[in-house]
Amino acid sequence: SRPLKVALLGCGTVGSEVARLLVEQADDLRARVGRPLELVGIAVRRPNRERPGLDPALFTTDAHALVTRPDVDLVVEVIGGLEPARALILAALANGASVVTANKALLAADGATLYAAAEEHAVDLYFEAAVAGAIPIIRPLRESLVGDEITAVTGIVNGTTNFILDKMDTEGAGFAETLALAQELGYAEADPTADVEGFDAAAKAAILASLAFHTRVTGADVYREGITDVSASDIASAREIGCVVKLVALCQLSEEPEDGSGRSVSVRVHPAMIPRTHPLAAVGGAYNAVFVESRSAGRLMFYGPGAGGSPTASAVLGDLVTVARNRVRGAVGPGESSYAARRVSPIGEV
Ligand code: NDP
Ligand code: HSE
Repeated sequence: SRPLKVALLGCGTVGSEVARLLVEQADDLRARVGRPLELVGIAVRRPNRERPGLDPALFTTDAHALVTRPDVDLVVEVIGGLEPARALILAALANGASVVTANKALLAADGATLYAAAEEHAVDLYFEAAVAGAIPIIRPLRESLVGDEITAVTGIVNGTTNFILDKMDTEGAGFAETLALAQELGYAEADPTADVEGFDAAAKAAILASLAFHTRVTGADVYREGITDVSASDIASAREIGCVVKLVALCQLSEEPEDGSGRSVSVRVHPAMIPRTHPLAAVGGAYNAVFVESRSAGRLMFYGPGAGGSPTASAVLGDLVTVARNRVRGAVGPGESSYAARRVSPIGEV
């Protein structure tokens, strides 16, 4: 049967793993989808760079031409950043392709435009890899728990900062050297300011709060503090009182106010002292953990690798197989919930 044609945008830490898996696991993927997935092109900035195991003929610098090819069914965006990623995703959706993206910065800045375009063109927009690496958290919020009332989503959602704080705590390592190691290991964003200043965690918190509370929270709505002011002496002081310093994200839905003004959400990201007995204290390295509290289910915990090429590629491939299956069946997955306009409260109000 006709292969489903896949265009890959970006072949860096995540994209190179996605490409490798598409090639190496072609037979398994074909069996799971029911049709072959054929990688037809890879857009990059530097097409002549050596990319072991991948056919050099696949590479192009003309990403727009690739996503607007009439035969492309599925587009994976792992370039990152706002532009040209946004324009390319919109062009792909308008071309009738389903899109898988790991781009939390873009989703947190302008997810509404992407959802609307996917809806308009009746195609899929999936983004499991955008929050917490390999951990399935988007699909649980978007699908499994959509019948429940979620009241809080909290946890550690940035691998780089957790890696740095953990090494400072357990090995007495320095901030700069550990950030450099996180970059080498492929955990950090292209501009690691996004990690250490909390922008990446704020973007993820905005995505989680939007899904959990059926509203629209952008990265700019999130109260944010990073870890650049956390010193070795702060970590030592925390240790003395049985605590560890973690960068936490907290998304909370208020109680129904008596004045009928409607429930509000509070979304914030900042370093916090966590008692060593708390489950979050045990989250080491570039791992993440997310707790969800809901009215009917109670408390759920999601835990696993939060960054890095291989874990993130697992989430991207999961989405790719899902959107490919939907395509084969002529179906589309969940779009945006009809959303409630909620006030985002300043810190401390909820
Ligand atoms: P990298 O910086 O490693 O890779 C980016 C890729 O995009 C490179 O191949 C680069 O080309 C290509 N690229 C950049 N600009 C353009 C452009 N204008 N046109 C075409 N190609 C372009 O990033 P990552 O793989 O780490 O991250 C990709 C996305 O995944 C980001 O949105 C990131 O936030 C997200 N993500 C990353 C995770 C991680 O652990 N690294 C985890 C979860 C999500 P070239 O190779 O030629 O430079
Ligand atoms: N830079 C991100 C992190 C990648 O460290 O968590 C995963 O989203």
